[in-house]
Amino acid sequence: MTAQIIDGKAIAAELRKDVAAGVEELVAAGKPRPGLATVLVGENPASQTYVRGKQKACAEVGIESFGHTLPADTSQEELESLVKELNADPKVHGILVQLPLPPGLDEEKVLNAISIEKDVDGFHPINIGRLAQKGREPLFVPCTPAGVIKLLKKAGATLEGANAVVLGRSNIVGMPAALLLVKENATVTICHSRTKNLKDVCRAADILIVAIGRAEMVRKDWVKPGAYVIDVGMNRVDDASKKRGYRLVGDVAYEEAAEVAGAITPVPGGVGPMTIAGLLWNTLRSAKRAS
Ligand code: GUN
Repeated sequence: MTAQIIDGKAIAAELRKDVAAGVEELVAAGKPRPGLATVLVGENPASQTYVRGKQKACAEVGIESFGHTLPADTSQEELESLVKELNADPKVHGILVQLPLPPGLDEEKVLNAISIEKDVDGFHPINIGRLAQKGREPLFVPCTPAGVIKLLKKAGATLEGANAVVLGRSNIVGMPAALLLVKENATVTICHSRTKNLKDVCRAADILIVAIGRAEMVRKDWVKPGAYVIDVGMNRVDDASKKRGYRLVGDVAYEEAAEVAGAITPVPGGVGPMTIAGLLWNTLRSAKRAS
């Protein structure tokens, strides 16, 4: 079997087109242009790249972005006071504090300081708490896990009653992805570094979400024939043949897994573009709620 390739780039582009149209509609109706504030603390190169990508994407769909770059030795008070200013700024509809924060800063306190009305990342404890509760709905859902669900649906997966396995339990991806799958009525298993018989658990999955952060860890014999495989990993591996000296690979050994999977996301071009599209979508929704 050769897997259907789930084209995240194309699906995200469609979503971005819808956001751009929604922004223009809002502005044409005399409402304020949606605005996203990005907060980057320190000089983590990957974070700098991600934030630049988010700002560029905002510009492309007509969302205004307000970039705040703070030094790594910023104090907790300074960071929280910036968040409070942004909470009060009517031009800002979404606040994104790029994670991880430099050591010494309390991430939970910072996320807690963001107004839940502007929590377009969906990381505020109240939004996450609502995601975990039956009959409650968060104002915003974290962008990467929301993108994972959207890709599965676009690829034709039936989530209800499916045996879904999530490999990884991070706050940003694994745990919220598992919670969203529960909301979709899947039967969910969360795996991590202490899971026994990991390969066998993964091989039983109709839907396998991999967000463990280890290059090409999931091999062909971990995948059930016909399964939907979503690879959230983004790892740099040395490659002297590339100008920049490395290439990007996912957490799944793509070529071999594609021989057995029913559908699979590539890296890059799978989940990554969906994260940014989801952020734009959430920012537009926030601006609509505020207007
Ligand atoms: N770090 C890695 N992914 C994300 C994300 O989606 N949002 C934020 N704020 N930080 C991240």
